[in-house]
Amino acid sequence: MLDELMAGLSTDEADEIVELVRKLRSTGVSLCVIEHVMRIIATLTDRVIVLEWGKKLAEGPYAEVSQNPAVIKSLPGGGCRLMLSIKNLDAYYGKLHVLWDISLQIGNESVGIFGPNGAGKTTLISCIVGLVKPSGGDIQFEGKSLLTSETHLIARAGISVVPQERELFPLMTVAETWRQERLTSSRLGHERKNCWNSFTAYFRY
Ligand SMILES: Nc1ncnc2c1ncn2[C@@H]1O[C@H](COP(=O)(O)OP(=O)(O)O)[C@@H](O)[C@H]1O
Ligand SMILES: [Mg+2]
Repeated sequence: MLDELMAGLSTDEADEIVELVRKLRSTGVSLCVIEHVMRIIATLTDRVIVLEWGKKLAEGPYAEVSQNPAVIKSLPGGGCRLMLSIKNLDAYYGKLHVLWDISLQIGNESVGIFGPNGAGKTTLISCIVGLVKPSGGDIQFEGKSLLTSETHLIARAGISVVPQERELFPLMTVAETWRQERLTSSRLGHERKNCWNSFTAYFRY
């Protein structure tokens, strides 16, 4: 019985363990692998049993069980509505290749993207909002490609960005910046009004 062997391991360490377990299995030993790293389950098991809240949810080969809607719904982030889908995204600044074959999906959830300086995080955001035109791949928001859309239409569709430098329009005052209708989509009208009220209340003191 192997209970969450991969917890806290790096990818290299996990790969090493997978090889060791595979060797062990080839000697004829029966294994029960308890794991929540899906890649490991997919690689190491002949048959999968999924538990949720003490009940058996599904049983069968990994390929079949991993497509089971009840199983997908039970996983973290599972069952939430897909909003942003990026496939095989490539982006350059001139000859500098910055994003390489990026694919990711974001649903109705909070997702962190992190990496060292220069890793391409801001470029990824710039591609999503149409400020950098990708050289390959696709970006879809609620099922529609954003690649041919302009930035103000992408904002209106519901994607807004707070840029890393606090210099939206350096020559404008904060109040003037807030008044810019174009910065927020009409869909956010109510929140915008609330923000404006909090903002003016704050500066009264
Ligand atoms: N406007 C630009 N023109 C040319 N190169 C850029 C530009 N913006 C970013 N880069 C380069 O692209 C790479 C990724 O940068 P960036 O997306 O800003 O990374 P991060 O946000 O992860 O720090 C870096 O090598 C950076 O120097
Ligand atoms: Mg950045």
